[in-house]
Amino acid sequence: MQSQPQTATPHAETVDPKRVTSRILKTGARIPAIGLGTFGSDHVSPETVAEAVQYAASIGYRHFDCASVYGNEHRIGEAFRQLFQNGLRREEVWVTSKLWNDKHGEDDIIPSCEKSLADLQVDYLDLYLVHWPFPNHHPPGCDVTARNPYAVPYIHQNYMRTWRKMEELVDRGLVRHIGTSNMTISKMKLLLRDARIKPAVNEMELHPHFQQPEFFRFLVDNGIQPIGYSPLGSPARPERDRTAEDTSPTEDPAIRAIAARLGIHPAVVCIKWADQRGQIPIPFSTNPKNILSNLLGVVGEPLSQQDMDAIEKLDRNCRLIKGHVFLWKDNQSWKDLWDVNGVITPA
Ligand SMILES: NC(=O)c1ccc[n+]([C@@H]2O[C@H](COP(=O)([O-])OP(=O)(O)OC[C@H]3O[C@@H](n4cnc5c(N)ncnc54)[C@H](OP(=O)(O)O)[C@@H]3O)[C@@H](O)[C@H]2O)c1
Repeated sequence: MQSQPQTATPHAETVDPKRVTSRILKTGARIPAIGLGTFGSDHVSPETVAEAVQYAASIGYRHFDCASVYGNEHRIGEAFRQLFQNGLRREEVWVTSKLWNDKHGEDDIIPSCEKSLADLQVDYLDLYLVHWPFPNHHPPGCDVTARNPYAVPYIHQNYMRTWRKMEELVDRGLVRHIGTSNMTISKMKLLLRDARIKPAVNEMELHPHFQQPEFFRFLVDNGIQPIGYSPLGSPARPERDRTAEDTSPTEDPAIRAIAARLGIHPAVVCIKWADQRGQIPIPFSTNPKNILSNLLGVVGEPLSQQDMDAIEKLDRNCRLIKGHVFLWKDNQSWKDLWDVNGVITPA
């Protein structure tokens, strides 16, 4: 029987986690079809994110998308400890973490994973991702014009050295699955050619204005589960991460019209679309009402095929998380990070 963790926060409605469908990975493991994002950026404290995790678990979430660079795994670990104390079983929860860009060195990967395990107070991770395919990093909170003088382009040999250690984490039982994030088709083809343990998932930006149809199909065809980050178009991302050409899926008139007709928030339309299309959305929220609405989105009435078709046509190829700070040259276009011509951008 599935236990319901206790929480100090009173709540009116909960969702039986059994009602949330799972996606089945190549290994046969089941990953819940929605997760809670935990990136508070620079405006939500670790304590508030940890409270959101605890609340989300209490109402039925069983999947949490964490990362060392979010700076809050120690507080989320405290929330997990309390949830486990109150009856939630470790195997009922899917916990993801990510290797940050400054830890790609061969001697850094295992200690970095061990630190996430200790902070999150779990003895294994369900999923560990290479957060970005570049070892380039930057100080927290810096502007999009910031560049690291040691930044380099994608070097497959180096990525594979990192990946071998990721594979070792699986061999050692510290993580159950490994995966990638912020990849491209060109980079993924090389990884699939050379990996002993293939990535189980790829985490990528996915919302109605940025659907990445070709990459999405490529992943599905290769048995890799897409996880969609910023599923609502990251409406609260900091000013420094915005550019004039950005658009907002939750403000799209067609999404708003569907939302108005169904009596739900446009954000929930984005969640339903993501789930029905086959990616796993990981919306961030610290607002209990929104946390619940997003979960209800995946267990409630689905969108009609007509609405799904209409949303497919809204794609604007509008990438919001461009990654400027990971560029390796001055005056370089952020598109160089994304191999837009199908070829990995050289030095
Ligand atoms: N792998 C990567 O490189 C990467 C990159 C970016 C993000 N991520 C992951 O993806 C997660 C989600 O992405 P994100 O945080 O950029 O953006 P997002 O989930 O698209 O948007 C989050 C924002 O939407 C609001 N919101 C959530 N549910 C809502 C609802 N039902 N109605 C109205 N507003 C709602 C939230 O505000 P309230 O708190 O007020 O509800 C929050 O400000 C992150 O937290 C992180 O875990 C991964």
